[in-house]
Amino acid sequence: MQLTPNDAVSIMMQVKKAKKISLSLRRPKAIAAEAEAAAALRPTQTAFQLVRGTKDILPTEQNFWSFVKNISESIANAYRFERIDTPIIEDARLFLRAVGKQTDIIEKEIFTFLDKGGEMLALRPEGTAPIVRAYVNHGMINLPQPVKLWYSGPMFRHDRPQSGRYRQFHQVGFEIIGDPKPSADAELIAVANAMCADLGLNVIFAINTLGDSVCRQNYLDELTGYYRSVRSQLCETCKRRMIKNPLRLLDCKDARCLKIKSNAPQIVDFICEDCKNHLMKLLEYLDELGISYVLDPHLVRGLDYYTRTVFEIFLKDGEKADEPIRQNALGGGGRYDTLIEALGGRQTAACGFALGAERLITKTRDRNVAVPGAPAIKVFLAALGETAKRKALKLFEDIRKSGITIASNFSKETLKGQLEIANKLNVDFTLILGQKEVIDETLIIRDMSTGVQEIVDVKKVLNILKKKLSV
Ligand code: HAM
Repeated sequence: MQLTPNDAVSIMMQVKKAKKISLSLRRPKAIAAEAEAAAALRPTQTAFQLVRGTKDILPTEQNFWSFVKNISESIANAYRFERIDTPIIEDARLFLRAVGKQTDIIEKEIFTFLDKGGEMLALRPEGTAPIVRAYVNHGMINLPQPVKLWYSGPMFRHDRPQSGRYRQFHQVGFEIIGDPKPSADAELIAVANAMCADLGLNVIFAINTLGDSVCRQNYLDELTGYYRSVRSQLCETCKRRMIKNPLRLLDCKDARCLKIKSNAPQIVDFICEDCKNHLMKLLEYLDELGISYVLDPHLVRGLDYYTRTVFEIFLKDGEKADEPIRQNALGGGGRYDTLIEALGGRQTAACGFALGAERLITKTRDRNVAVPGAPAIKVFLAALGETAKRKALKLFEDIRKSGITIASNFSKETLKGQLEIANKLNVDFTLILGQKEVIDETLIIRDMSTGVQEIVDVKKVLNILKKKLSV
């Protein structure tokens, strides 16, 4: 990939930024020394804290993550998407080229650092550019088209942390590469809709078109003219955007600019017949599928690679209303028919979307969606004394391998302590192995609902359990 002078300047800016943030891997010894010196100045601070904007996923939340993972997998299999995993680090220029220099992601949010060889790398802020790089690198153009890929993993943006906004977050994304037809856009929206429905979330899609690179120019001229007429009322960033990237004017969250946006010209009035037909056909598919959507004539998205369709996914406000709740989007996507060529491949049409896993999980939680937990434990194995514990470990393994769910806690020394745990786990049976049982080669089976105990031959315990539990 050839670097233009502009790219080089942007990269220099990123280098400066990278020096400021402590992610730099350039001088590990110096950084270690600085960290130690800083720690010495704070002798009372003993516990390290999470890096701002990141979060631990604790054991109590894991069932929600498994839920999202399992549903993503089953939806991907049902719609025939193949899994792809790309590295978390990429050449920073990939995102500069794909996402666009004047986007928030590149201007403010991308995590970059120089590696030891002096190469500028980035922690991926999104998944589409890496997937396209992989598509080009691995000659996937030679596979039967379209190539349908899905991915799931962490992304990084140096966003201002707030509710639903993290610096490390997770996306589940789906891409269809090599299909220019509106049916591909519709399929993706159907996939997003089905995935949210399976997660217990009722969603609505905000949809717009951005036209293609030719007809969009008519709109950009009109848009710039409109904004020029209200220039004095714009925020400083928008004054710059007017010259550098006018479409981004519609992305501004400043209250004054939002008001100005409401009267801005709408792109649908300026696009060519082909782009208009593409949108109309997509809407016909969505009507046929019964998918809820609203047209949002000013939706532009925060990434520059989109052509034609763009969409965002919101929670529906209750069952009746057809209005999305305008909070953080659960997901977003669209068509990017020029990106593959821009990243060195042959001209290939493509589209895709990604959902934010943290936001899906928050909404699933808020709505008390029943999430499958770990399978119930049927048997608890209690062991008393060193020899019994040793024997119990082998017995535990034999029972686990037979498919019976089993738990134990050998750190508790007394039978009382171990039975308390068995009670908490609500198991059907507890097996008790003490010194006497080890010598006699027997074992006590206690029925936890009746309290009745029986002594059995240790060699027969597996078969007895299987019978009792009908395994
Ligand atoms: P995006 O709209 O930038 O699109 O991100 C997709 C989703 O990721 C968002 O709707 C949100 O749920 C989640 N997300 C983004 N930033 C954060 C954050 N800081 N904290 C928590 N969640 C976040 C893309 O990334 C495109 N690559 C989607 C796409 C795929 N377009 C075509 N193919």
